Amino acid sequence: MKNFKLVISEKIAKITQIDTNELASYIEIPPNKDMGDYSFPCFKLAKVLKKSPMIIANEIKEQMDLGEELKDINIVNGYLNFYINKDLLAKEVLEEFNNKKEKFGFSNIGNGKTICVEYSSPNIAKPFHIGHLRTTIIGASLYKIYKSQGYNVIGINHLGDYGTQFGKLIEGYKRWGAEYDLSKDPINELMKIYVRINDLCKEDESVLDSCRNNFKLLEEGDEYCTKLWEDFRKISLDEFEKIYKLLGVSFDSLRGEADCAKNSNKVMEELEKSGQLVVSDGAKIVDLEDKKLGVCMLEKSDGSSTYANRDLSAIMYRAKEYNFDKCLYVVAYEQALHFRQIFEVAKLLDIPEKCKNGLFHIQYGMTRLTTGKMSTREGTVVKVEDVLNEAIDRVQKVIEEKNPDMENRDENAKKIGIGAVVFNNLNNTLIKDQIFDWDRVLNFQGETGPYVQYIYVRTKSVLEKLGYIPNFNEKYYTMLQDDASLNVINYLYNFGDVLNSVTEKNETCLLTRFLIELAQSYSVFYNENKIIGEEKDIQDARAYLTYCVGITLKIGCSLLGIEMPDRM
Ligand code: ARG
Repeated sequence: MKNFKLVISEKIAKITQIDTNELASYIEIPPNKDMGDYSFPCFKLAKVLKKSPMIIANEIKEQMDLGEELKDINIVNGYLNFYINKDLLAKEVLEEFNNKKEKFGFSNIGNGKTICVEYSSPNIAKPFHIGHLRTTIIGASLYKIYKSQGYNVIGINHLGDYGTQFGKLIEGYKRWGAEYDLSKDPINELMKIYVRINDLCKEDESVLDSCRNNFKLLEEGDEYCTKLWEDFRKISLDEFEKIYKLLGVSFDSLRGEADCAKNSNKVMEELEKSGQLVVSDGAKIVDLEDKKLGVCMLEKSDGSSTYANRDLSAIMYRAKEYNFDKCLYVVAYEQALHFRQIFEVAKLLDIPEKCKNGLFHIQYGMTRLTTGKMSTREGTVVKVEDVLNEAIDRVQKVIEEKNPDMENRDENAKKIGIGAVVFNNLNNTLIKDQIFDWDRVLNFQGETGPYVQYIYVRTKSVLEKLGYIPNFNEKYYTMLQDDASLNVINYLYNFGDVLNSVTEKNETCLLTRFLIELAQSYSVFYNENKIIGEEKDIQDARAYLTYCVGITLKIGCSLLGIEMPDRM
C-alpha cells in the first residue's frame, strides 16, 4: 500500500535536497479535515534553508509535481497542506485489505529484532491483586502488538517465587500445616499461615532463627524445604492460571526470581570486576548517589541475594539467551527508582551494548475501584477473579433485561464483561491512575470495549442479513466517494501506522482510540448510507466496506486481548 506520508516527503526532498526520513518525521496529520490530509510545517526548514517559512512554502508549492497521488496543496501560515487523491487512497486500502484480510495492519517492520516483554510477575503465596491485573493486561497486549509487526517476542512472567519470606512460610507450615485446608482458597490459607508465623517471630526471636535456617536450607536444596516450596509455587500458579485463562493470557517463559537467584554470584563477580562494588554496613552496594539514584543493594549483610541482584541476573540471562534489542518491564510506577537503579548498574555488566540500551520500564498507574462490592476498604484486598466475575455478572444482568433469548448468552457475557475490563485498562496513557467505575466501563454507548464490540456485531448482522460477503472488486472504490465512506477508508488506511506507533511509544491507548474512532466513523457511514436494497454494485461496495471494518475491529480487539461476541 502506498505510504502517502513518504510520497510527500520524497516530493519535498526532491526540491529541498533534505533527507526524506527527516522530512517525513515533520509531517503532521491536521486536526481537522478542512486543513488537508497531511501538513508540513515549513518553519522546521527555515534554519537550514536560511529562508522564511512563507518563502519556503511558496517555493515548494510552485515546484512540486502533484503526480497521481496528490489533488491539491495550499498554504496556511507557513504550513503546506496536502490533499491526497482519495480515489487512489480508497483503491489502495481496499486492495490491501483484500490481500491481507485477517492480517490487515500486520507488517514485518520488526523482522530481525527481538523484544522481551516481562509482565504479570506476581508473588507466589500472595494474592494476585488489581495491580497485577493491569500489568498482565498491558503486557499481554504489547506482546501481541509487537508480534503483529514482525518482531520476535518473548513473553516472560518473572515470578516472585524467592525471598526470605519462604523461610517463614515453611516454618509456619511445619508447625500448623495440618490446621489449614490448602485445597480450597489456598492462597488465602497460606496468607493466614504467613501472618500467624510473622506474629510469632515478633514475640520469639528463636522462631525467627528457625525461619532463617529454613531459608538457608531451601537455598542449599534441602529436600523437605524444596518440596514445600515447590508445592506453594504449584498451588499459587494453579490459582493464577484461572485468571490467565479468563483473560486468554500466556507466557513463553516462567523463569522467576528463584532461577535468577541461582546465578546471583555471577552478578557479584562481574560487578566486583567493575570496581564499583563497595561494602557498606556489611552489605554490598553500588553507590549511585552521583546520579541521584541513591544506593543499589546487591547482597545483604547475611550474604543473601537481593531483589535488585535477581533482576540483574535476569538481565544477564536474557541478554545471553535472547540477545534482545529491547526488554520491556511492565511494572507499576511505584518501582520506578528500582528500575532506574538496575538499568544503571546493568551498564557495568558484560553484556552487549544494545541490551544495555534496550532496557525500558513501562510504568502504569494505580487502579481505584469506586462502586460495587469491589470497592476497596482499608485493608481489604481486592481479588482479581472477583472483579472479572463481577464484570461478567453485570453484563448477564443487562442481557437478561434487554435480550433474554440471546444465543450463546454465557459465552457472549464473558467476552463482553472481560472485554470491558481489558479495554478500560488500556484506554488511557498508561502512567495515569485510573478510576474504575462500573457504569462507565460497561457503558455500551461510551468510549468502551462494549461499544467497539457492539459496532462489530452490527457489521456482522448487516452481512448476515445480506446473506453473503461480496467478493472483492477493484471498482468498489468508485462507489465509495461520499464523505462518510471516505472517512471510514481513511481510518482503515491508518491502522498499520497506529499499530506501529504503539511499538514506538508503548502506549496502547493509541490503538483503543483508533478503534473507538473507526467504530464511530462506521456508525456515521451506516446511518447515512443504505446498504441492503441499493443497486447491486453499490450494495456490494458498501457491504465490502462493512466487512473490512468488522474484520479490522476484530483484529484490533484481539491485539488488545479482547474477543468479539457474536450477539449483543
Ligand atoms: N513480583 C513483583 C511484585 O509483585 C513484581 C516484579 C516486577 N518485575 C521485576 N523484574 N522486578 O511486586
